[in-house]
Amino acid sequence: MSGYSFLTSGAPRQPGESKWKYHIRKLFTLKTLTSLDEDRQNSNLAKTLNLYDLIMISLGAIIGSGIFVLTGEAAATKSGPAVVISFLLAGVTASFAALSYCELTSMIPISGSSYTFVYATMGELIAWIIGWDLILEYLVGAAAVAVGWSGYFVSFFADCGVILSKSWTSAPVKYDIALGQFHIVPNAYFNVPAFLVVIFLTILLTIGIKESARVNTTVVSIKLLVIIIFCIAAGTRVNPDNYKPFIPENEGTFSRFGFTGVLAGTSVVFFAFIGFDSISTTAQETKNPQRDVPIAIMTSFAIVSVVYVAVSLVLVGVVPYRLLASPAPLAVAADMTGMKWLGIIVDLGAVCGLISVILVSLMGQPRIFLAMAKQVSYHFVTSVQNLETKKVLIIFSSSDGLFLPSLGSRIHPRFQTPYLTTILCGTVCAITAALFPIDILSELTSVGTLLAFFFVNIGVMVLRLIAPDAPRKFKVPGGPVFIPITGASLNLLLLATASRNSIIRLFIWMAIGLLVYVFYGRRHSKANNSTRNVDLDNEMMKTNVNKEAGL
Ligand code: ALA
Repeated sequence: MSGYSFLTSGAPRQPGESKWKYHIRKLFTLKTLTSLDEDRQNSNLAKTLNLYDLIMISLGAIIGSGIFVLTGEAAATKSGPAVVISFLLAGVTASFAALSYCELTSMIPISGSSYTFVYATMGELIAWIIGWDLILEYLVGAAAVAVGWSGYFVSFFADCGVILSKSWTSAPVKYDIALGQFHIVPNAYFNVPAFLVVIFLTILLTIGIKESARVNTTVVSIKLLVIIIFCIAAGTRVNPDNYKPFIPENEGTFSRFGFTGVLAGTSVVFFAFIGFDSISTTAQETKNPQRDVPIAIMTSFAIVSVVYVAVSLVLVGVVPYRLLASPAPLAVAADMTGMKWLGIIVDLGAVCGLISVILVSLMGQPRIFLAMAKQVSYHFVTSVQNLETKKVLIIFSSSDGLFLPSLGSRIHPRFQTPYLTTILCGTVCAITAALFPIDILSELTSVGTLLAFFFVNIGVMVLRLIAPDAPRKFKVPGGPVFIPITGASLNLLLLATASRNSIIRLFIWMAIGLLVYVFYGRRHSKANNSTRNVDLDNEMMKTNVNKEAGL
């Protein structure tokens, strides 16, 4: 048993079928719902997470640099006090995708997030594009938040009278919008705090998901408590004059204030809603994913929407919006209230709070790679001592062969985590965080995520068409068209208002991804080479194990 069954599109070349037709058909090979279900049954990841863990993981992934850092820039340079409207618009856009994720996770509860959904609906090529795109959301997103974390870390030390060297706490490169090019920042070498926080969390994740979920729960509780204290304490110092004008007049360019500025602000703060989807990457480690993942997504979404509107209302009510252009805008507001203790608490809350965002993003990325990688490697299986375990591993096949030959699917025998990909992702993320500034990283994350959300929205419609009778424990309300189409259109609208440079970077990234697909993924795809790769590997392993067993 290979754990797979395929639609005809993955079948070998048929007699009389032209070469072109054959290759194009292969690009759209679908993974069937049955095969996805078998993948889940065959997975050897520990199933330990419950509803409470999932809500905490989701909140841990969502509330981060978006509200703690980017709100300031959006209010000061794009939306003004109407940053509150930007948050509402971003929330509405993300909530459509959230509903679509709920429906798809209730049908396809396996690790891999939108990558898996798209594989089941739009075929291998688009799935590859999304899988590659998700690297932006998870890995680059984690790096963006690590940079935000570093800013509050520095601010906390400054509150305590210790000034950390700028040379070792900021990015050595910067993007100059006016000149349209990167330049080296004098006397800035490496963002050490951003680098170290990612390395520390990578070690934690390698040790095990349950331990990490526990740390995450504590961190999320602290973060929410600090936000509530901020809203109550600073809320007493709101000056209604700061809300006027609520939408400042446009200053001549598309993104500087006015209605278009509010839209541009929306694409900046959209970053704040990213993360709810990361719990769909832990579906295989969840006890009851079909029921719990949708409930967790909707619950956490309701909580963050209230939190964001409250925080942004207080922020622009306490500080005149133009003064909010700071890497730590909540700390600026706290200072303005004259309550020094509040500043220290906010800095500490951000330092703890942003950790959970990095943690969950780093947790999600290897699980997507796991879904994309080849089946359990020959070397891994043969290195396992217990004969029975070996036999089970031979038939275990939970990945698609599109990426990372044997690395992607190695599960640590004791910790039961995809340890090699965790270490690989953590190292790349740490280096990225140390070298690049937050605006570049967060914009790239947002456009990448918007693209993934677009395909997820479309995926709901496709799956209703091709599998109308498949069991769904959750369905998007209002039928298969209204929410997915509106959601997909809003995703495109926000993509259109994002900066031109981030769109160009997105296309460059996608072009690299396509090359990897053409030269590696397409040739190693299990769906497309089912009879060849899987069976050969399994045969080879079976023979050796039988020999060992004396059969
Ligand atoms: N939503 C996450 C944040 O704001 C990515 O940091």
